[in-house]
Amino acid sequence: MAATLAIAYLNGSFLPLDEATISPLDRGFLFGDAVYEVIPIYDGRPFLLDAHLQRLNRSLNELRIADPHSTEHWQTVIEGLIEQNDGGDLAIYIQVTRGVDSGRDHMFPDQVTPTVFGMASVLAPTDFSAGVSAITRPDNRWNRCDIKATALLANVLAHQQAREAGAADAILIWDDEVTEGASSSVIIIENRELVRRPNGHEVLPGTTTDHVITLARAAGLGYRQERISVARLRSADEIWLTSATKGIAPIVRLDDQPIGTGTPGPVWRQLIKLYEASKRE
Ligand code: PDD
Repeated sequence: MAATLAIAYLNGSFLPLDEATISPLDRGFLFGDAVYEVIPIYDGRPFLLDAHLQRLNRSLNELRIADPHSTEHWQTVIEGLIEQNDGGDLAIYIQVTRGVDSGRDHMFPDQVTPTVFGMASVLAPTDFSAGVSAITRPDNRWNRCDIKATALLANVLAHQQAREAGAADAILIWDDEVTEGASSSVIIIENRELVRRPNGHEVLPGTTTDHVITLARAAGLGYRQERISVARLRSADEIWLTSATKGIAPIVRLDDQPIGTGTPGPVWRQLIKLYEASKRE
C-alpha cells in the first residue's frame, strides 16, 4: 500500500499528518460511528467526484449526521489536499465521524460537532495484464452495507485471508449468492454481457461499477442486474473486481480454479482501454 503523504486535513485546517490528533472519546474511535470515501485523483483532478460526494452525503444521512460541508466546501477540501501534496495520481481519503463526546455512551450526544479528517496517498499505476486471483468467503457483515461506514471489521478479516492466500480480494457470499468483494464490487461477464447484483442493503453502490457500466453500454455491450449464484460465478466467462483504487481487476483464478481461459478476457481488454482513457479526459 502506498505511503500516506505529508499533509492532512482536520476540522478546517491543513496540517502535517503527524500533528493531526483526534480524541479517544471521538465516537469514530469508540464505536466506528463514522463514514468515509476514497476518491481517485488523476493528473491532479478528482475522478467521479460528484458520485463520491453524493454517496458521502447519503451515508451521513443514513447515520443521521448532518453533512458538515456543502458540495463546494468539500471540493475546496479535496483540492487543498491535492495541491498541498503536489498533485499527480492520488487516492484521497475523507472520513466524517459523529464527533467527540464527554464519555462513552451508545446514545448520540445532544450537541456534537462532526470530526472531519482527510488524507492523501499516492495512487500507484496498476498492471492487471496477467490477471489476479480471488477467494470466496462467507459474507458475515451487517445488513446495511450500502452505507460506506468505517466499521469494516468483517471486510478487513476477509480481505486479510485473501491476501494471505496470495489473492487480491475475497468475494463475499451470502445465501449462496455473490454480494460484493471485501473492498470492491463484482461484475461478471456472460456471453459479452455485464451482470451485477442489484443495489440494496447488502452491497455498497460502487462508483466505479456505475462508470464501467456506462462505458460498456456506450460501447454496445449488454448489461443486466441479477443476483449471481456461486455456481454461476464459477462458470462466468470473466469476473471483474472494481473499485476507486483498483479500477477494473480481472479475476483469472477463483479458489485456485481458472475462470474462463485463465487469462484476462476479451471484454476486459476492451473495457480497460476505455476506462483508462476516461480517467484522463
Ligand atoms: N472501497 N464495495 C466495498 C465493500 C468497497 O470497500 C468498495 C471500495 C467498493 C467499490 O466502491 P467504489 O467503486 O466506489 O470505490 C465496493 C474503497 C476503495 C476502500 O475502502 O478503500
